[in-house]
Amino acid sequence: MNIGVVGIGYVGLVTASCLAEAGNRVICVDNDSDKIKQLKNGRIPIYEPGLTEMVQHNQKAKRLHFTTELKEAVDESLLIYLAVGTPPAPDGSADISAILSVCRDIAGLMTDYRIIITKSTVPVGTHKKVTELIKSKTQVPFDYVSNPEFLKEGAAVEDFTRPDRIIIGCDSPQVREIMKQICNPFMRKGNRIIFMDAASAEMTKYAANTMLATRISFMNELSALCEKVGADIEMVRQGIGSDSRIGRSFLFAGVGYGGSCFPKDIRALIHTGDENGLQMRIAAAVQQANAEQQVRFANKILEHFAGKEKETTLCVWGLAFKAKTDDIRESPALNCVKLFIKAGIKIRAYDPEAATAAKQALGDAIETFDNGYDALAGADALVILTDWQELRNPDFETIKTKLKKPVIFDGRNLYELDYVSRAGLTYHSVGRKTVRPG
Ligand SMILES: NC(=O)c1ccc[n+]([C@@H]2O[C@H](COP(=O)([O-])OP(=O)(O)OC[C@H]3O[C@@H](n4cnc5c(N)ncnc54)[C@H](O)[C@@H]3O)[C@@H](O)[C@H]2O)c1
Repeated sequence: MNIGVVGIGYVGLVTASCLAEAGNRVICVDNDSDKIKQLKNGRIPIYEPGLTEMVQHNQKAKRLHFTTELKEAVDESLLIYLAVGTPPAPDGSADISAILSVCRDIAGLMTDYRIIITKSTVPVGTHKKVTELIKSKTQVPFDYVSNPEFLKEGAAVEDFTRPDRIIIGCDSPQVREIMKQICNPFMRKGNRIIFMDAASAEMTKYAANTMLATRISFMNELSALCEKVGADIEMVRQGIGSDSRIGRSFLFAGVGYGGSCFPKDIRALIHTGDENGLQMRIAAAVQQANAEQQVRFANKILEHFAGKEKETTLCVWGLAFKAKTDDIRESPALNCVKLFIKAGIKIRAYDPEAATAAKQALGDAIETFDNGYDALAGADALVILTDWQELRNPDFETIKTKLKKPVIFDGRNLYELDYVSRAGLTYHSVGRKTVRPG
C-alpha cells in the first residue's frame, strides 16, 4: 500500500519505518528541510533503539522516501498519517494549528479519495474540526480516522510493532477494514485492534497518559510520606504491585515524570475539562504533585550544601527525561539542574545520549563529559537523575575515589541501600532512609 506520513519526529519516523518494514511504500514529509536532508543522507536525527537500522534498510529497499513536498505524498498515497507536533499553548490547551494547517494543505492538493489518519495526540473534538475544515476546502471525498499513538520513547519500535492494542476511531466499515489490513502485520499473536468512534479514541489517549502519570505521582507523594514516617517506598511498591488488581508498572518513585507527552497531555486534559465546565481535580493534583516532587528532590541537595553553593560542584548522571532517549523536553533532570545552577552550583554532567541536547539548552552553565567517571572528578557529590541501565551497577570504588566527598543523591532509586553503605558512601534516595558508610 502507498502511505504518506506528515511530521517526521519521534512518532512519524517510527510509524513510517515500521510501516515500510511491513512492505508498504511510505513517503515521509516534514517542513524542516534540514531534517529531511539529514534523513535522505541516512542520518537519523533522534536516538531510538533499533530505528537507524530500520530506516536505512527500508531506504535501501526503496520503501522509505523523504521529502519536504506534501504534494508528493498526497498524490501517491491512499492513506495519509499525521504525526506533527501538538505542543502546549500558553493557556495549557494542545496547539493543533500544525494539524489544521496540514489538513488545509491536503484538502487543497487532493484530487482523489484519501484517508486521513491522526496519530498526533489531539483534544477531543479535533476530528470534527478537521472534517469540517477539509469539507469546506474540497469536494473530493475523504475519510478521517483517529489512531492515537501509544509508543514509548526508548522502546518505540518494539511498541509500534508489538502493541498492547491499536485504537482505531472511525465509523466506516470499509475504512475499518483497510485499517485492519495496515495493522495486521503487527497483530501476529492475536487481534488487539479496538474499533471505536473518533471522540472516544481521542479521549482514550489522554485517559491513558493521565492514568499512568497518576500512578507515578501517587507513588512520589507516598515516597515523601515514607521519608517522614520511616517507611521504605521500594517495599511499599513491591507490596502493592504484587496485587493483580494494581499491577507492577509505573509504580517507581523518583524525581518525577517529564517528556513531551505526560506534562502537556495532562495540561490539555485539564483545559478540555475547563472548556466543558468540569474541574479535572485528579489530573490537576497529579500535575502539582509532579512539580513538587522535582523541587523536593532538588531542595534536599540544596539544603545539604546550604551556604556553600558557590564553592560546590555536582556531578550529574542523567539529563534525558528517562532512559533510552535523547529527549530532554520537560525533563525533571534538567529542571533540577536549572535549580542547582540558579543557586550558583557548578555542574559536571554525563548522559549517554542527551548531553548534546542539554548543552544546547543550558549552554556554558554546564560542562558535559563523554564518560560518567570523568565527570566525577573533584565534584562534591554525585546526583543521579535518569535511570539509564549503564548506571545501575557502577564501580563504587571509583566513584568514592573521584568524588571530593563520598555522597550520592539518587533521584531514581537505582541501588540497594546496604550495598552502597557497605561500599563506603553516604546514599540519599527517594522515599527510603539515608544510609551512611559501613
Ligand atoms: N514522542 C512520543 O513519545 C509520543 C508518543 C505518542 C504520541 N505522541 C504525539 O505525537 C505527536 C508528535 O510527537 P513527536 O514527539 O513525534 O513530535 P516531534 O516534535 O518529534 O515531531 C513533530 C514533527 O512534525 C514536523 N512538523 C511540524 N509542523 C509541520 C508541518 N506543518 N508540516 C510538516 N511537518 C511538520 C516537525 O518539523 C517535526 O519534525 C504529538 O502530538 C505527540 O503528543 C508523541
